[in-house]
Amino acid sequence: MQEDAIPSLGGYSEPELDRAFAAVAAEVEISAQSLQSPEATEEFRLRWLGRKQGRLKLISDAWLKAAPGDAKKLIGQRFNTLKARIEQRLDEGARAGVPAAALDAEAIDITLPGPRHAIGAEHPLIKTWNELVAIFQRMGYSVGVGPEVETDYYNFESLNFPPGHPARDTQDTLVVAHQERRPLRDRLLMRTHTSPVQIRTMEQQAPPLRIIIPGKVHRNDAADATHSPMFHQIEGLCVDTNITFGDLKGTLDFAMKALFGSQVKTRFFPSFFPFTEPSADVSISCPFCGQAGCRKCKYSGWIELLGCGMVDPAVFEFARLKQPAYDPKKIAGFAFGMGIDRVAMMKYGIGDIGLMFSGDLRFLEQFA
Ligand code: PHE
Repeated sequence: MQEDAIPSLGGYSEPELDRAFAAVAAEVEISAQSLQSPEATEEFRLRWLGRKQGRLKLISDAWLKAAPGDAKKLIGQRFNTLKARIEQRLDEGARAGVPAAALDAEAIDITLPGPRHAIGAEHPLIKTWNELVAIFQRMGYSVGVGPEVETDYYNFESLNFPPGHPARDTQDTLVVAHQERRPLRDRLLMRTHTSPVQIRTMEQQAPPLRIIIPGKVHRNDAADATHSPMFHQIEGLCVDTNITFGDLKGTLDFAMKALFGSQVKTRFFPSFFPFTEPSADVSISCPFCGQAGCRKCKYSGWIELLGCGMVDPAVFEFARLKQPAYDPKKIAGFAFGMGIDRVAMMKYGIGDIGLMFSGDLRFLEQFA
């Protein structure tokens, strides 16, 4: 075969060198396409790597040896890359003719350790979530879910926040755009709490009822160490014929002891939620300092953790539109809602809520 002569270099600038070597590399690829038989492979080897007339040798003579000193390094680097490419093609060509079984034996060295698969770990939030769910399941609660995109009716109206009620302002609601033409009750928003699932559950199931609903909620809060526009709550709802505030206190006291240890005490303060009456905020005695005072309890000995109360009769009236058995004269119930993120941060000493949603492996690996 009449070999093409090695073209002379246009110059020693990097773009010019790149162009010249790219042309040769293209030539290598074209001639490598015929590497189907041992004969063709040998021909390819001679053509490119032959000691006297191989093209690589000719390129070395014409380009590398002739180059001025300061261009030698630039050419040498490209020369080595080209040589590696030729050798790789030759290698592949040599394998093409070999039976597969022989190839496998060669390719797999069974004495080498296998690839390691990193073992996953439970996210601290999910750990806390599961722990809370398990505590209530042991008390006979079932677990429910509801949509994160809610209607105004379920997030507010049926929970006794009438249109224009000032309590709506405290929820920093993120609304879905372009809903103005719908009636208010059908307008979509990101649920600001898990409480809408109270009504959704009661519409589906007659009393007695014991259910917890963990899930994501959204509020238009600026992100900082303790706030995130997306966070998690766990809702609880218990309805039967004879439920009292004493049942509520006993249930939450038991749950907090199960979560933080039997030495923990609970304290109930009067509060307000439109959908519970009476309502309370619950604090636990600081499980970290035994109430001596520390940073976690802001030196008060108590940590406020959740909201709760007896289900407001007005809420039963809304549930009753679909399930007549929720007659506030015959039944009673309690509900509570707790931030899961806060509990996880307390339990695992996490100082910034954003870390939990950052996907940063350096953070997550600490819980493996
Ligand atoms: N939904 C309330 C909140 O997000 C918490 C709550 C739930 C209060 C159930 C009472 C009963 O603040």
